[in-house]
Amino acid sequence: MNTWRIKPLDAILATAEKKSLHRSLGAFQLTMLGIGAIIGTGIFVLTAAAAQKAGPGMLFSFVVAGFVCAVAALCYSELASMVPVSGSAYTYTYAVMGELLAWTVGWALILEYAVAASAVCVGWSGYVMGLLKSYTGFELPYFLAAGPIWGWSGTLPTVDFTHGVVNLPAIIVALLVTGLLVIGTSESAKVNALLVVVKVTALTAFIALSLPIIKGENFTPLMPTGLIGPEGLGVIGAAASIFFAYVGFDAVSTAAEETKNPQKNVPIGLIASLGICTVFYLLVAAGVIGTVGAQPLTVNGVVLSPDSAAFSEACRAATEAGNAPIVCSREALAEVLRMSGFEQVGNLIGVAAMIALPSVILMMIYGQTRIFFVMARDGLLPEKLADVHPKFKTPWKMTIFTGLCVAIAGAFFPVGQLADISNSGTLFAFFMVAIAIMVLRIKEPNRHRPFKTPLVWIIAPLAALGCLGLYLNLPTVAKMVLPVWGAIGLVIYFAYSRRHSHVGKGLIEVHEDDADLPPPPATT
Ligand code: ALA
Repeated sequence: MNTWRIKPLDAILATAEKKSLHRSLGAFQLTMLGIGAIIGTGIFVLTAAAAQKAGPGMLFSFVVAGFVCAVAALCYSELASMVPVSGSAYTYTYAVMGELLAWTVGWALILEYAVAASAVCVGWSGYVMGLLKSYTGFELPYFLAAGPIWGWSGTLPTVDFTHGVVNLPAIIVALLVTGLLVIGTSESAKVNALLVVVKVTALTAFIALSLPIIKGENFTPLMPTGLIGPEGLGVIGAAASIFFAYVGFDAVSTAAEETKNPQKNVPIGLIASLGICTVFYLLVAAGVIGTVGAQPLTVNGVVLSPDSAAFSEACRAATEAGNAPIVCSREALAEVLRMSGFEQVGNLIGVAAMIALPSVILMMIYGQTRIFFVMARDGLLPEKLADVHPKFKTPWKMTIFTGLCVAIAGAFFPVGQLADISNSGTLFAFFMVAIAIMVLRIKEPNRHRPFKTPLVWIIAPLAALGCLGLYLNLPTVAKMVLPVWGAIGLVIYFAYSRRHSHVGKGLIEVHEDDADLPPPPATT
């Protein structure tokens, strides 16, 4: 038996060729699509957790995470331009390193997309509750406002319900977005562009109001937790978490099939969207640190992990005493402005997050169903899952299944832990892509490469090592999820997928069309 079944690259490319009629996106739209998928909970919410992990040193964390994403994006671009078809890292790996590894990548992408969607649901929940409180004074009881906190006690997971039980608003937004996807609401390019404008305007307003009032002394001590600390503390630990803020740029490569001249436009879209977001993030982070200070909260001189129950307890005490630092906030950007005397603009930032974050959830759940779809089309998942609804013409079973999983994870995990878990899957997928381009350079050196990663023997190893380094600096819970999830995936692969694989059955398919696939967001 051939364990390393490979889907021939030429068959994949033939699939892409058949689709030339659907190509409508240009470099500008791709960049907008990228920014639309990238800016979200990471910058709006996780800035607080990054400050708790690294203090003002989080500026370096943004640079480190952005750098790892940039080198990974360069690797992505080479494969995305060579293999301009759906399925992202999964398809690339199938073509280059075979079915088993492709399966593990597709399986890890579930962590990336579905868990990221949950994280954004929880981030949305924080902003909506903050707004409600600010405008009406209403607060949900603590047990409906947040999920429990998970930990690791040596060998077993632990769970603490004292600061939350179930995040009700996160469930509601997950189900609403799922409903929209089931009835076939694909976000139109116009709506996407409008939401990008909303997010960029909100961040620009934040920068414009905060930068003029920053104080130099807020930047010292610059790195209170050092470079690497325990349980994800330190500049690199914060980078591993804040990496989440950049996730989504691969949505651009996923849209390669709908792109005009993908060979040129996909790399431009990837790198432009990443570059623009990095500049925004650095300015926003400098605004947060410089205005209200971003030193970590300590108890008896010890810096607490923002994912710990002890941290929640310390924040509760500080909130009751009326002096909660920004690291405790669930709506950091709005709170910074309120604390700086810009109450109304702070609320408007909250409104912007409330309007715009659901589009990130929609993109993530959509991306997830599309990867499921491609995997089912290859026979690795039950083809029934890809059934299309007779009236709505959407893969409704798969969408509902994904939406329920997203709602459950959003209900029972805090945002920081979800983001870290999502990062572990994403880092694995990016690591594989970096390896894949090196393998392909050796195996098929003469194949046409419309976009060649510059200095590939430096960039690709840097991307692989960067992903590995960030992964190793995630908190224990997030680090443990990847191998456990991977093991479950392997059991399913050997019990089901391997026997049902179309490539394994000798079927090399060239799909005439994606007529059975729902329309992609932001392209219609
Ligand atoms: N980058 C996206 C966000 O920050 C996933 O919400």
